[in-house]
Amino acid sequence: KKVVLAYSGGLDTSVIVKWLQETYNCEVVTFTADIGQGEEVEPARAKAKAMGIKEIYIDDLREEFARDFVFPMFRANAIYEGEYLLGTSIARPLIAKRLIEIANETGADAISHGATGKGNDQVRFELGAYALKPGIQVIAPWREWDLTSRETLMDYCAKHEIPVDYANAKKKSPYSMDANLLHISYEGGNLEDPWWEAEDPDMWRWTVAPEQAPDQPTYLEITYEKGDIVAINGEAMSPATVMEYLNKVGGENGIGRLDIVENRYVGMKSRGCYETPAGTIMMKAHRGIESITLDREAAHLKDELMPRYAKLVYNGYWWSPERKMLQLAIDESQKVVNGDVRVKLYKGSVSVVGRRSPDSLFDEKIATFEDDAGAYDQKDAEGFIKLNALRLRIAADKGRDIL
Ligand code: ARG
Ligand code: SIN
Repeated sequence: KKVVLAYSGGLDTSVIVKWLQETYNCEVVTFTADIGQGEEVEPARAKAKAMGIKEIYIDDLREEFARDFVFPMFRANAIYEGEYLLGTSIARPLIAKRLIEIANETGADAISHGATGKGNDQVRFELGAYALKPGIQVIAPWREWDLTSRETLMDYCAKHEIPVDYANAKKKSPYSMDANLLHISYEGGNLEDPWWEAEDPDMWRWTVAPEQAPDQPTYLEITYEKGDIVAINGEAMSPATVMEYLNKVGGENGIGRLDIVENRYVGMKSRGCYETPAGTIMMKAHRGIESITLDREAAHLKDELMPRYAKLVYNGYWWSPERKMLQLAIDESQKVVNGDVRVKLYKGSVSVVGRRSPDSLFDEKIATFEDDAGAYDQKDAEGFIKLNALRLRIAADKGRDIL
């Protein structure tokens, strides 16, 4: 038996390596990805080697993640429950895809991950894996073992000679964190009291508090092609570079902090804090460029489909026929989403202050409050309103009560 494990190099997934070897008497293949979490991935190699792993995969997936997952999702303006920019959700289908590719390359018959049995991530990993390889076996240690407390976990490490970096374990954050190019998330610890304000200055890592942000605003000119950012301040950038750059300037200006209670797919409510500097700027700017380039009804249809799309991503249905259908429609709409947006970043806020496009539908001649020289005939509005009022007038005539 051979199992491909999504291995972070951290303590929990190191325990999983040992546990898999022991419980299933299997060969373990480790897979560690750089998706922009901001931590070195190379150290995972030595750790895996020390545990006797022969097949070790370490991949830099930053560009693929930004280009094929984050950017397509931002074309949809996807937001879950009005607030969450889906930072963790969108990374899972990529990890699932890589796990399956590696299973195919190494002839493994199972995959494994370190998500708990209580959350969304298990669903996302496994729906992805089953969609891409229906016969794959999934091993989710957190749903099987009895190492449910820190103590039992430490005992297990001692018994199996898993090196624990105690100094690190001590200063380890009390929060469950997950980071990639799109966000860093915090759950657990004090956050489990939804009334407690997340004012812990050691928690937030990517952004300064808006109160501490510079007194001078920062302006950016963001260039779009087909709904994707291709340049900032006139400089062409790859998708991952765009995100790294916006995370940096956004973070310096206190942009993208969020504190919410959300509904997990498994049914429970969960309190989480997020820092999404680049995503927060990208969302505003994209709506800015769409505002002059998209037809009204195309834009409104997108807005109606959006919550559905966001829910699919949140619940783990990236690799589903319905997500693909929506994506094709959304991508079609983006052919005209070209041009520049000027945004102003200031103490935690992002505002669009200018937009221009070769595909703009904005017609100054028609919209002007000044003399439009016959471009628009105000008399047309009379019949337009009368016909739209027809059914209202008929109902009123017939004595329908509307109050
Ligand atoms: N609640 C968020 C989501 O479901 C973030 C999950 C964070 N995951 C983690 N392993 N800490 O997308
Ligand atoms: C986990 O349970 O592993 C993290 C939280 C989540 O997946 O929702």
